[in-house]
Amino acid sequence: MTPRNVFRTLALTEAITWACLLAGMFVKYVVGTTEVGVQVAGPIHGVAFIGYCLVTVVVAIDQQWSRGRLLLGLASSVPPLMTVWFDRHVEKRGGLDDHWHSRHDSDTAAQRAVCWLLRHHRQAIVGFVVAVAALTGIALLAGPPVGG
Ligand code: HEM
Repeated sequence: MTPRNVFRTLALTEAITWACLLAGMFVKYVVGTTEVGVQVAGPIHGVAFIGYCLVTVVVAIDQQWSRGRLLLGLASSVPPLMTVWFDRHVEKRGGLDDHWHSRHDSDTAAQRAVCWLLRHHRQAIVGFVVAVAALTGIALLAGPPVGG
């Protein structure tokens, strides 16, 4: 599990679920037969979107991305398939290594927190799942951003 492959996995998952949602929208609005595609792909994409955003923040801290690059990474989750473009964009600029930079004595508290997560895999995975579930719940209570 390296910053590069964790980020790539989530970027690709986000893009694939977006493509499924687009397919669902094609069936709903163009073919006009059923809304089931959107009803299934919508929440799956929502979960992938939240997971991608969380992982983007962790990788950005670890790989010491600039604030602008972090914001671009987060914004890339909104237009369809842009996370794949962003992954290539960062890769070309050397922003995705095969090793984690965060150390227990890193300069920033955020990097020390990432180091703690890396050393406590189980807690990190449980924390990730709980955070995704909580944010998904909040998003669903607030109402889907599109089409509600
Ligand atoms: C940038 C983030 C997001 C974008 C761009 C987005 C976009 C969309 C789009 C275009 C649809 C199809 C709407 C339609 O025409 O019927 C949709 C549906 C849906 N989205 Fe999202 N979404 C995002 C985040 C989320 C999140 C965080 C959640 C919550 C987990 C969520 C839950 C849903 C649900 C449940 C539907 C299905 C609505 C229905 O049953 O018709 N989305 N989304």
